[in-house]
Amino acid sequence: MSDHFDQAIMPTAVVTGANRGIGLEWVKQLLEQGWDVYAGYRSDKGGLSETEANLLQLDVTSDESVKEFASSIPQRVDLLVNNAGVADGRWQSVSEIEHEEALRVLDINAVGPMRVTQALLSKLGGENMSTIAMVSSLMGSVEDCISGRSYAYRASKSALNMFSMAMKNELRDANISILILHPGWVQTDMGGPNATVTPNDSIAGMLQRVEEQTLAMSGRFVQYDGRALPW
Ligand SMILES: NC(=O)c1ccc[n+]([C@@H]2O[C@H](COP(=O)([O-])OP(=O)(O)OC[C@H]3O[C@@H](n4cnc5c(N)ncnc54)[C@H](OP(=O)(O)O)[C@@H]3O)[C@@H](O)[C@H]2O)c1
Repeated sequence: MSDHFDQAIMPTAVVTGANRGIGLEWVKQLLEQGWDVYAGYRSDKGGLSETEANLLQLDVTSDESVKEFASSIPQRVDLLVNNAGVADGRWQSVSEIEHEEALRVLDINAVGPMRVTQALLSKLGGENMSTIAMVSSLMGSVEDCISGRSYAYRASKSALNMFSMAMKNELRDANISILILHPGWVQTDMGGPNATVTPNDSIAGMLQRVEEQTLAMSGRFVQYDGRALPW
């Protein structure tokens, strides 16, 4: 556990999209490291039922659900992990892009983290620094967009990166640091079985990034192993 946190008090983390995949592994490793964890699940508790986390229903596309979620967390939050997300990968050509579905992906992946951040703002920062970890993707990198496709997913993660950078200065004044993360290509339902990184290695790396995070580092875009990524 980082020196940022008072060792006498259990630090508090909030994780969205926590019932499976990368989110569930965040919950497990945070608990192992002694954090008090509030875990959001959309409908199915999944693997969370076997953990000691505090379980709360959360749909990041619903203002009502997000407000209810935030108001159910009774204490200050040291770490918010905006992890919930969906892929698209459905459209092979520009002419096939479905607008409603594209808006749904943008809503979950880009606006969702903003809703949750807004709702928890009064519980973040203050005397001690809080970190907001945005689980983004290398696919949101404009410079790295060589193969194209995955239109809405790419756009949603670029938008998430820009939302994060645009609020960096304002949040710095409130003692909140933003960490924009690419988890690697991870073996989950989204990443598929051919992915090259295990959830265990991905989250262990991302937790190290959280531990080394300072206010001065706010707004960095790095992958799980610490490598800086192009915008
Ligand atoms: N896996 C990779 O290789 C990879 C690479 C780069 C970035 N990422 C990012 O990492 C994050 C987690 O991905 P993953 O691989 O763990 O995906 P996953 O296995 O498909 O899990 C996605 C999680 O997001 C939740 N979710 C979806 N829509 C939601 C909503 N409206 N409200 C609340 N929760 C919602 C899902 O809940 P339900 O179970 O209810 O659907 C699930 O818990 C995503 O942001 C993804 O873009 C993943």
